[in-house]
Amino acid sequence: MEKNPKFEQLEKLREESRLGGGKSRIQKQHDAGKLTAIERVELLLDKDSFEEIGALVRHRCKDFGLDQESYPGDGVVTGFGKINGRPVYVFSQDFTVFGGSLSETHAEKICKIMDLAVKNGIPVIGLNDSGGARIQEGVASLGGYAEVFWRNSMASGVVPQISAIMGPCAGGAVYSPAITDFIFMVQETSFMFVTGPNVVKTVTHEEVSSEDLGGASAHSTKSGVAHFSTDNDADCLNRIRKLMQYLPLNCEEKPPLSPSKDPDKAYAEKLDTLVPDNPNKPYDIKDVIRGVTDEGSFYEVHEHYADNIVVGFARLGGRSIGIVANQPLSLAGCLDNNASVKGARFVRFCDAFNIPLVVFEDVPGFLPGTDQEWGGIIKHGAKLLYAFCEATVPKMTVITRKAYGGAYDVMNSKHIRADYNIAWPSAEIAVMGTKGAVEIIFRREIKKAANPEARQKELEAEYEETFANPYRAAARGYIDDVVFPHETRTKLLRAFEVVQTKVDRVPRKKHDNLPL
Ligand code: HXC
Repeated sequence: MEKNPKFEQLEKLREESRLGGGKSRIQKQHDAGKLTAIERVELLLDKDSFEEIGALVRHRCKDFGLDQESYPGDGVVTGFGKINGRPVYVFSQDFTVFGGSLSETHAEKICKIMDLAVKNGIPVIGLNDSGGARIQEGVASLGGYAEVFWRNSMASGVVPQISAIMGPCAGGAVYSPAITDFIFMVQETSFMFVTGPNVVKTVTHEEVSSEDLGGASAHSTKSGVAHFSTDNDADCLNRIRKLMQYLPLNCEEKPPLSPSKDPDKAYAEKLDTLVPDNPNKPYDIKDVIRGVTDEGSFYEVHEHYADNIVVGFARLGGRSIGIVANQPLSLAGCLDNNASVKGARFVRFCDAFNIPLVVFEDVPGFLPGTDQEWGGIIKHGAKLLYAFCEATVPKMTVITRKAYGGAYDVMNSKHIRADYNIAWPSAEIAVMGTKGAVEIIFRREIKKAANPEARQKELEAEYEETFANPYRAAARGYIDDVVFPHETRTKLLRAFEVVQTKVDRVPRKKHDNLPL
């Protein structure tokens, strides 16, 4: 049969679009250890689920020879598909076309799928690999960026927005991912910075490589800009798929349910003996998390940044929950600037997307020092406090050991409307630790004593008996129950049953004024 020339034309265009900037540039991309835009989309989504939108869009620029060079799709693959059977919108920048640079039409394509995502209540995943503004287009490209930024801001809290940095992301371009909820980076092949190594050298005379300045390691350990550092493209896309399992499609939905699983036996059996008798000895709070939550469900966020606080998703009886936990292994679990901001951002995400919060608390207080005070511990600590106060999702707290001072109030206390607060027998709920407290309130008495050291020991024992336990707080109803560690999971599961129907609201306002 004779071929229909009109059909042939479409086939040719599709093939051209799929090839992006051409075979040699694809080879270069592969040689750099990177997949192409479409290969990434196909790996991210369920098999054969991708529907492309705008594969035939071309730029309209006529300057600097661009009237002679254009590629269908214009450097970004956009469309929708499924992850584990649930819909998502995706854009994936194609570095083989003008270095993935953003033109006016490239931006329009991204904006189109963002508008659809908000209208249909479906998450947006952006795979970034771009040389930034399409230099030949000048201000039209800058306008395009701003259109994307505006949509990122409007979509914030409406649908989850996930960014993966899988190549360059520099200059103002970084601000789109920065507004989104989670940033994944790929080690060695991605970087993010506002000004690159050359500008840094000129201005501050520092010599630094792209990787050291803005690679996955720098942003997942030093700046906290990246939530996840991944080994390669495939690992990155796989981990995005995993994250999506915990999230609802939009702010009106509850997260998806999974079959319930018992916790890992090895961790569950350890719970009763985990907290050392000596309050100065650390233990790993992640052992508590794993001993209470469904086996294999804990998915840590910001694992390598501010590790004195642990945040992440998990499941309890198959339900998605957000975990915030002090980590006694790092800075004794003190709250500092970075930990406060890390915790606050996570709490706000969970609250925006109906993910209940479970707090595991062992906190001796806020970290002292000029570094912290001048770094703004007052305003940063306030962020965490504010985030817990305004959260209306079900909120539960398990105090495993220390709950001292202001940090007791901040870490989802009953007073800021937590729903169910329990403590282990090892809990110490007090204004401060025993030694410090006795030294302050009995300083004169100790000084006057015939044997100051012995008197101090006596007073410490007295203080400890009075306050270094959970029973004073329980007597006032500030905690709902004191439980054996091995009972924790059952208690939380039962409490979750009754908070499913919780209705809580903040007073009507234009918007809040989070202490930034
Ligand atoms: C147009 C670009 C481009 C850009 C790269 N290309 N960046 N085309 N606009 N911004 C093209 C190159 O000409 C080349 O085309 C191809 O993409 C690959 O680029 P290479 O330089 O060969 O690749 P590589 O060595 O890997 O270096 C990648 C790079 C570098 C680090 C991204 O290309 C670079 O520094 N580009 C410029 C970055 C930049 O200054 N952008 C503007 C920033 S200002 P051929 O035809 O050879 O394949 C900005 C403002 C945003 O983005 C503001 C928002 C508010």
